[in-house]
Amino acid sequence: MTHYLLVLLASTLTRTTTAAFYYPDPQSHLLEHILVDNWGAYASNFSSAITPCTNYVSQRGSTGLNSGRTTAAQWMRVLFHDFITANVSAGTGGIDASIGFETSREENKGSAFNDSFAFWAPYVNEYVPMADLVALGTVMSNNLCGSRLMPYQPGRIDATAAGHTTGVPAPETDLEETLLFFDRAGFNETDSIALTACGHTLGSVHHGGFPEVVDDSTVTPTNTNGGANFDSTRGIFDPLVVSEYLSSTGEKGGPLVTSFNVSSRSDLRLYESDGNATMQALLKQGDGFLDTCVDLFKKVVNTVPSHVTLKEEIQLMEVKPVNVTFGFDKDDKLILTGTIRILTPAGSRSPKTLEFSIAGKSYNLQSDPETGTSVFGRSGSEYGTLSYFSFSIPGSKARKETSFSVLGHSFSLQSETFIYPDTTMINGAIVNASIATSTSTECGNLKVTIAVPYKQQGTLAPKVQSQQITLNSKSVEKDGFKICSGIAELENVPTGLVSLKVFTDGKVADVLLVNGGAAGW
Ligand code: HEM
Ligand SMILES: *[C@@H]1O[C@H](CO)[C@@H](O)[C@H](O)[C@H]1NC(C)=O
Ligand SMILES: *[C@@H]1O[C@H](CO)[C@@H](O)[C@H](O)[C@H]1NC(C)=O
Ligand SMILES: *[C@@H]1O[C@H](CO)[C@@H](O)[C@H](O)[C@H]1NC(C)=O
Ligand SMILES: *[C@@H]1O[C@H](CO)[C@@H](O)[C@H](O)[C@H]1NC(C)=O
Ligand SMILES: *[C@@H]1O[C@H](CO)[C@@H](O)[C@H](O)[C@H]1NC(C)=O
Ligand SMILES: *[C@@H]1O[C@H](CO)[C@@H](O)[C@H](O)[C@H]1NC(C)=O
Ligand SMILES: *[C@@H]1O[C@H](CO)[C@@H](O)[C@H](O)[C@H]1NC(C)=O
Ligand SMILES: *[C@@H]1O[C@H](CO)[C@@H](O)[C@H](O)[C@H]1NC(C)=O
Repeated sequence: MTHYLLVLLASTLTRTTTAAFYYPDPQSHLLEHILVDNWGAYASNFSSAITPCTNYVSQRGSTGLNSGRTTAAQWMRVLFHDFITANVSAGTGGIDASIGFETSREENKGSAFNDSFAFWAPYVNEYVPMADLVALGTVMSNNLCGSRLMPYQPGRIDATAAGHTTGVPAPETDLEETLLFFDRAGFNETDSIALTACGHTLGSVHHGGFPEVVDDSTVTPTNTNGGANFDSTRGIFDPLVVSEYLSSTGEKGGPLVTSFNVSSRSDLRLYESDGNATMQALLKQGDGFLDTCVDLFKKVVNTVPSHVTLKEEIQLMEVKPVNVTFGFDKDDKLILTGTIRILTPAGSRSPKTLEFSIAGKSYNLQSDPETGTSVFGRSGSEYGTLSYFSFSIPGSKARKETSFSVLGHSFSLQSETFIYPDTTMINGAIVNASIATSTSTECGNLKVTIAVPYKQQGTLAPKVQSQQITLNSKSVEKDGFKICSGIAELENVPTGLVSLKVFTDGKVADVLLVNGGAAGW
């Protein structure tokens, strides 16, 4: 009797396994991919925009090292402008991507906002809102440009319109009003000074956009937008802005300290407001400045409207299965395919073989020739190595299995009902969906939904909309599975990944992100 109950319980668990093929779930998988897979084989393209950290990616997708602009810096400035209109006592504003609707405000002049949103837009989908990318941009600038690795929690929600609150400090804003804006967003004077120094360790003030701060003498063929840097290393996240300010060396704290136009010296007014005490304290911290910055940026990225609850921090997966899926081979036999990613820290040797176990049988996988590199696992200037091990297991060995394991890590799986990837695709605005199911369920009773990111008016942040796909009642058979299919016409061509979900008994049985390779993912 007890035995029977256990079996029943186990089979119930199998049926409720969601998103078996994205570990630990689609959202964490996607964000972990951006955070960890920085360069080389199978990298997310996200890091390319800020590699090297002086790189610049414009709205039209061209890159430039001669513009005097810096994408890693722009991303942090976008965060600042989205954040600073928060009213924490009212629980409004903060990181919600409302900045995308606010680019015509004088306080948000310049190309930084649309440049950044244009690069991020293809990454938006059901699981990744623009607001999470606004936060992630700063995390990546810290991680890749010399600061500490920043923790990152997802779960933000995109605003659907411009925020009601206005007021971003500008170079001519007086000290009192500047501190009022920071106070509204939950930052006292000390922390406002430190946060501004942390922001102004990357990038420049440009004559193009701020001629009242920087005159045209900075414009040259290798600095076409006339950037005047905050410190001597505009692409390195370091404490130099603090030491150069206090010792009047190098860039002396930058244009917002030294501007020819006294009313434009907002950083000088702010830094001096406590008699330089905070700047002196930051100098004493040495490289500890970076930890201070991470703490302050963490507070900024986690400032969200009161109706938003952030999720758990994204964790590095040292052993990560990628693209694991059931499908059918050329003889229409069930197969399980995928790749295991292994992170090896700097200084250690990456494995050449890997043991993969399923159904009590072990397979010896060989590493792919190409590897990637990651800031995770770095030590000094050496990076972690990502190696990849592809597998293809006959369905006869994997059918009805509920897990596989690698290096002592177990990953869940189910072959009861799955999205059949080979015949699930998007062509323009047409979606073809195929579901394989071993149950006696009628095709017409399987519920399939898709969530699609589309362009929207007034912002470059896409908006995600859901719709249902009706499956044909007719099906074909393959290796004991019934293949159900359906077609949907979308309103428009999607801007990023489309997520397709199949539900059985009201529960998600499987998820597939369609066109996974496109748009830099
Ligand atoms: C008193 C408050 C602040 C004022 C008045 C101010 C003003 C400015 C101005 C005028 C620029 C030049 C933009 C351009 O020419 O492209 C700039 C750049 C920048 N700001 Fe601030 N800022 C303030 C605080 C902050 C804070 C708190 C952060 C970070 C959290 C930040 C991050 C940045 C970054 C990274 C850049 C460089 C952008 C680039 O190179 O494209 N700023 N800021
Ligand atoms: C990758 O990013 C670069 C900018 O860094 C961009 O020019 C390129 O188009 C992107 N590639 C893809 C596939 O999106
Ligand atoms: C913040 O919101 C509260 C409550 O709505 C309001 O009383 C206060 O004036 C706002 N603060 C600022 C600085 O606008
Ligand atoms: C400013 O705020 C920080 C963090 O909330 C706190 O640790 C610090 O003591 C505050 N400083 C002052 C002068 O109130
Ligand atoms: C100095 O800055 C103020 C405030 O932005 C501006 O009104 C004025 O025109 C600037 N002066 C010069 C000489 O650019
Ligand atoms: C603050 O430091 C700056 C740069 O060293 C200096 O020019 C300024 O006089 C100092 N201000 C005060 C009040 O100490
Ligand atoms: C999608 O399905 C339709 C109807 O079955 C078919 O004509 C079309 O070729 C399919 N498209 C792709 C890309 O498979
Ligand atoms: C930014 O893009 C949005 C959406 O396309 C557009 O409405 C807005 O005018 C652009 N802003 C600037 C400053 O170009
Ligand atoms: C996973 O699949 C996507 C889409 O086909 C592809 O671009 C990517 O390179 C694959 N990743 C690995 C590690 O195989």
